[in-house]
Amino acid sequence: MNALRIPLRNAAPLRRAARTQLPKASPFRASYNSGRKYSTAPPPPEAKSSGSTLWLGLGAAGAAGAAWYFFTESGENTVKSGVQQAKVAANFVPTKEDYEKVYRKIADLVIDAGDYDDGSYGPVLLRLAWHSSGTYDKETGTGGSNYATMRFDPESLHGANAGLNVARGLMDKIKEEFPWISYGDLWTLAGVAAIQEMGGPKIPWRPGRVDGVAAQATPDGRLPDASQGSDHLRNIFYRMGFNDQEIVALSGAHALGRCHTDRSGFVGPWTFSPTTVTNDYFKLLFDEKWVWKKWEGPKQLEDKKTKTLMMLPTDYVLTQDKSFKKHAKAYADNQDLWFKDFSSAVSRLFELGVPEKQWVYPEPWIIPTVDEQDSKNEDLVGEALQELYEKHNVKREDLWIQTKFTPIGGQDTTKPIPYTPEDPVEDQIASSLETSLKNLKTTYLDSYVLHSPLPGQIGSTVQAWKALAKIQDEGKAKMIGVCNTYDVKVLEALDEVRKVQVVQNRWYQGNGWDKEVVGYCKRNGIMYQSFWTLSGSPDLLGHPTFLTIAKTNNLTPEQAVYKLAQLQGITPLSGTTQVEHMKLDLNVEAAEWKEDGIQREIELVKKLIE
Ligand code: HEM
Repeated sequence: MNALRIPLRNAAPLRRAARTQLPKASPFRASYNSGRKYSTAPPPPEAKSSGSTLWLGLGAAGAAGAAWYFFTESGENTVKSGVQQAKVAANFVPTKEDYEKVYRKIADLVIDAGDYDDGSYGPVLLRLAWHSSGTYDKETGTGGSNYATMRFDPESLHGANAGLNVARGLMDKIKEEFPWISYGDLWTLAGVAAIQEMGGPKIPWRPGRVDGVAAQATPDGRLPDASQGSDHLRNIFYRMGFNDQEIVALSGAHALGRCHTDRSGFVGPWTFSPTTVTNDYFKLLFDEKWVWKKWEGPKQLEDKKTKTLMMLPTDYVLTQDKSFKKHAKAYADNQDLWFKDFSSAVSRLFELGVPEKQWVYPEPWIIPTVDEQDSKNEDLVGEALQELYEKHNVKREDLWIQTKFTPIGGQDTTKPIPYTPEDPVEDQIASSLETSLKNLKTTYLDSYVLHSPLPGQIGSTVQAWKALAKIQDEGKAKMIGVCNTYDVKVLEALDEVRKVQVVQNRWYQGNGWDKEVVGYCKRNGIMYQSFWTLSGSPDLLGHPTFLTIAKTNNLTPEQAVYKLAQLQGITPLSGTTQVEHMKLDLNVEAAEWKEDGIQREIELVKKLIE
């Protein structure tokens, strides 16, 4: 579907100063321990499905090209929720939309966790997903995300899993609402939601994990020990089938969350923005001076300057080991590169230990973020517009309406697509535009934009651009433009066909405020629209220098960022769904801007963004 762009919501607020006390971890629930108890490590279960396991593809799912597998084991250890069985027996076949519903529920916990830690359960949910997957051993095929054996002790009680009862408890509540989902699917889906909702890359995911039994739990010692060095990291991650580059990429997850003395014994966050996925972890590793913390606790490093950040010995080793360092430096210099590598490594991590035949879909798919799910309702926007015209005396010409053409890669394929993907791109665009005009109940758009350059050679983007130029010639769009275009060369190539009139890009700390493209737009009179303006720059929003600027101008920090953008000639897009926030955002345009007495602060901030 085409979409009116609604940018990501703000990441959960970061409370850097007031560190709240952790709630007491809820006691380990006896019901988890329904499996066999043992005092020694269990024998590794059979790697591949064997005589003792039986996989049944159940009928109805087959029709959709999918299969819903049902796990059972001979003997007394069969563990499967009665409700789950009942659903399966009733031929309940969850669709992609059902999984997206679960995702939304989890996202609520990521977006707002009240006073817990930094205001988000995202980090601890990601740690749960990783610890349930990272037990995989490629030699024996044991461990991994398949059986969710962390529900059983002693795996739940392994030192490395301390504190994860918080995350498991949260997931239990969600499971009550969606009893048909397996724990392994639920936990890994939570990891995906955590990364995506905290501004990270998309993580391709698919369901198919099944609930196992206690005998499939893995022995202690399979997860990394933070006090060790590079040999240990390699032993652990090579065992899962990862290489040096992937070890480094995965470690970047420590952009999020913090260490807790009552869990691992270590203390503190790795970055200033522990609820937003950025490559700050890598940047800080190289930019800050790290010294050993003087304290009674386990050996860890702290940043010399503020003493508020930490690195584990296994984090620091990424700057000391030659092979690790090469990758860590590359990720520090290029967030997009890290996003790409992190996404594929995490996607693979979450699939470890799941036999191919168990997957419900042949390929993982990309679950849209909550904001993207909401923004796909172009027809609802049309209805709202109709109401404005009819009941509130608003006229079409009072409004400025923009929508976009989204190539197949960016489409939510669980929803109807407004064109035939096999058609030539110009036909796809023409058909998509007609759907948008109908949805939005208008005969013209003020601006029509390409969602992103098309994959492959620049030629395909130019071809699409010609289709947009035709639409402009026909009077159906007053302006045309492109989104997500960070390479000036693409803009230059398009300019040769028809001048680019709008660019809509992420403008945030992670891409150094997109200076090259902003500069190009200024020089060429192009309207530059920014998104991720607030959610992508938590460090700026919380920086004392910036707070002084905002306060002097009687603006909220968010308003001050928008004002600063406008002063740069940028049009910030507000994605808020709250009336109060929208009012604050709209007030920015008329707000006065004073620089008297704060020139030094303004200079510092301008140095960052200009
Ligand atoms: C490279 C080896 C790794 C080691 C030694 C390690 C170790 C640790 C330790 C000691 C903690 C603190 C736990 C606490 O006290 O609450 C932690 C937290 C965390 N780890 Fe790792 N980790 C590693 C890799 C990973 C990977 C691969 C991921 C995800 C892909 C990850 C995600 C996280 C997250 C998100 C937290 C924060 C949890 C929270 O805020 O509650 N870690 N890790």
